[in-house]
Amino acid sequence: MFLTYRRRAYVTLWFLLGATLFFANHPAMAAYNSTAHGSATNGVKRSSAGITDYAIANCAHCHEQHASVGGTEPAPDNSGPSSYAAFASEEALCLGCHGGTPNYSANGSPDNINSLLNTSYGHYPADFSAKHKAKEVQADINSNAHVECTDCHNPHLSGATKHSKGTNAVTSTSPLYGAQGTTATYNSGSWLSSSVSYSALSAAGTEYKICFKCHSGAVGTPETWRGASGTTTWTDVAKEFNPANKSYHPVVQTLAGGTGSSALTNSQLSATWQNAGSKTMYCSDCHGDDNSNTVAKPYGPHGSANNRMLRNDSSFDLWPYNPSGNPWDLKDLGSNTNSWTTRLLCKKCHPLTTDPTDRTQIINYPHRFHADRAVSKTENYPCLLCHLSITHGSGQSRMTGNYTDPSPYSMTLIGTFTIGRSGSSNVETNPKMPWLTAFTKNASPLASGGYTRGSCSVYNGASPDNYNSINCGGNHP
Ligand code: HEC
Ligand code: HEC
Ligand code: HEC
Ligand code: HEC
Ligand code: HEC
Ligand code: HEC
Ligand code: HEC
Repeated sequence: MFLTYRRRAYVTLWFLLGATLFFANHPAMAAYNSTAHGSATNGVKRSSAGITDYAIANCAHCHEQHASVGGTEPAPDNSGPSSYAAFASEEALCLGCHGGTPNYSANGSPDNINSLLNTSYGHYPADFSAKHKAKEVQADINSNAHVECTDCHNPHLSGATKHSKGTNAVTSTSPLYGAQGTTATYNSGSWLSSSVSYSALSAAGTEYKICFKCHSGAVGTPETWRGASGTTTWTDVAKEFNPANKSYHPVVQTLAGGTGSSALTNSQLSATWQNAGSKTMYCSDCHGDDNSNTVAKPYGPHGSANNRMLRNDSSFDLWPYNPSGNPWDLKDLGSNTNSWTTRLLCKKCHPLTTDPTDRTQIINYPHRFHADRAVSKTENYPCLLCHLSITHGSGQSRMTGNYTDPSPYSMTLIGTFTIGRSGSSNVETNPKMPWLTAFTKNASPLASGGYTRGSCSVYNGASPDNYNSINCGGNHP
């Protein structure tokens, strides 16, 4: 015990020296009192013995200047002192006030992040220990796959105001303010042939630059970076959002501002996202908590019961499967089934119809045409027949996928499905999706004369998959 505290005293000494330099080197610290933790009213205050008389916002509520003298509050975790003389290490420090047990917070209403960390999908900071360093460089991340709270948050600068939709920017009042990031420079090429280079940023001005530290080629090979213990297959997300792609969600660049795509029409977007072509978005507009609508949970990609942490933001939480466990299908739109108006992810931002009870009101023509056939002729048109399952971007227009896209972009549906026309000849077992082999965008997507059969080519059923050649009415066109 004596040794432990003596070691701690050394750490504290070095920390205080560091803190002095920190003030000298960090002009931004002048703003500490306007941050969430530094606020004189709502800021940090820990209730542990020995520090009850420290003022709200005092650094010592996290950094134990005096623990070495007489501290009885939490014994050092990790069987030794914590970095920077913090009262605990890594996520345990944050959860000491943000919902963990025990909870030391004696001020403010720190959001309960702990409740989100044991969900089926998410970032699991507790799975990683002693891999993160403060002020780490990209090489540290690359060789030590990990994710900690402080990879996305700077506890000295975090603000308390969540972003408003329609922008990708991190402002000085954001919970993400001051977190490190990486800039992706798109040199040439697009989609999976993109050539991208990366440079480190001490503070990311947009949310996606924080995510790109790990979900991009900045780590070398993102597909395997997480290692065998990770969940399934990862992709290079930076390539997927390349503004030179034929389609992409506007995370890095507005649709009008990129070189590869063009804006939708306002009627294809819900009110928040109109002024088509001009909006950008956060990754966490799609990835986040699984708010049930009755319990307010904190924002951010901390954890969710939904596949890939898809965010439940007043419902709209499911993709690519519907509540019956089948892939979403235009039949759901045409016959108003499977609670699609409240459960389909895309419906959060794309209205898709002006009247769910009348299939002639479906907004774009390819949807309207196939949804009508689905109902009137009992046919099946899963969304994945035409669209990619990872709706970040595509080498083909309007997030449609190509049959030749590699896995996981092309996806094998497990089970037996009837696709296209009904009848035994169209029953497919474990079909590989999507089926398009070419697609040409039309300038009049809503009008019945806009898209024609000639706009699409469909996989023709040749070996090795042996799909039935009459799917989609033959080799469409
Ligand atoms: C000593 C208690 C304490 C510790 C430890 C702590 N926080 Fe906080 N945190 C708070 C309080 C109090 C607030 C302000 C809540 C409010 O504004 O009502 C806050 C606010 C925040 C916010 C702003 C969001 C918001 O809704 O206000 C973020 C982000 C945040 N904390 C992240 C972290 C991270 C990351 C860590 C670990 C490095 C951490 N916190 C450790 C007490 C703490
Ligand atoms: C410091 C590295 C790091 C950063 C930064 C990071 N992630 Fe992750 N992310 C990971 C790791 C590691 C996993 C895998 C977790 C696992 O398998 O245990 C992951 C998984 C995910 C998943 C899949 C979850 C699942 O269970 O299928 C999503 C979605 C995701 N991250 C989104 C984001 C977003 C959005 C951001 C930016 C706001 C971000 N990530 C920033 C490391 C990071
Ligand atoms: C909410 C908890 C919290 C509060 C309050 C806090 N810190 Fe920190 N501090 C941390 C954490 C966590 C780290 C390690 C960062 C990382 O892991 O990336 C850290 C790291 C540091 C470092 C070393 C790394 C660097 O950025 O130079 C210094 C110095 C420091 N803090 C000084 C301060 C000072 C001075 C204050 C008060 C003005 C303060 N801290 C308040 C949590 C806190
Ligand atoms: C328009 C909604 C949307 C946006 C915006 C979005 N995602 Fe996704 N993301 C998805 C969907 C849908 C999937 C696939 C879900 C599935 O397969 O079940 C996915 C899958 C993922 C995965 C798991 C597969 C993989 O690529 O490794 C990660 C990680 C991820 N997203 C990270 C991010 C990051 C980082 C950003 C921002 C740079 C982002 N997402 C922005 C909808 C979105
Ligand atoms: C959180 C909001 C949000 C969600 C959820 C969302 N989108 Fe989008 N989507 C947008 C925005 C914003 C744009 C850009 C529109 C513009 O500015 O013209 C867009 C654009 C698109 C485009 C045109 C892209 C291009 O470059 O051509 C397609 C196609 C699309 N979304 C399909 C989908 C599908 C499929 C889903 C569900 C899996 C989905 N979206 C979910 C917000 C969203
Ligand atoms: C992968 C990146 C990432 C990681 C890891 C992460 N966060 Fe967050 N966090 C976010 C994002 C993004 C937001 C939402 C910001 C916004 O909407 O403006 C957020 C929001 C928050 C908020 C404010 C929530 C609200 O509703 O106001 C708190 C508090 C917070 N995070 C604490 C933590 C703590 C504690 C940890 C570790 C247990 C953690 N975060 C890990 C990205 C992350
Ligand atoms: C037969 C092929 C096909 C199928 C099946 C299909 N889509 Fe589309 N989808 C398209 C085309 C083509 C566009 C582009 C329209 C344009 O040019 O603006 C599109 C556009 C979209 C958009 C952009 C907004 C809009 O209203 O146009 C969303 C969102 C979308 N699809 C979601 C879905 C969902 C959800 C399903 C399944 C329920 C689905 N799609 C099934 C071909 C298809």
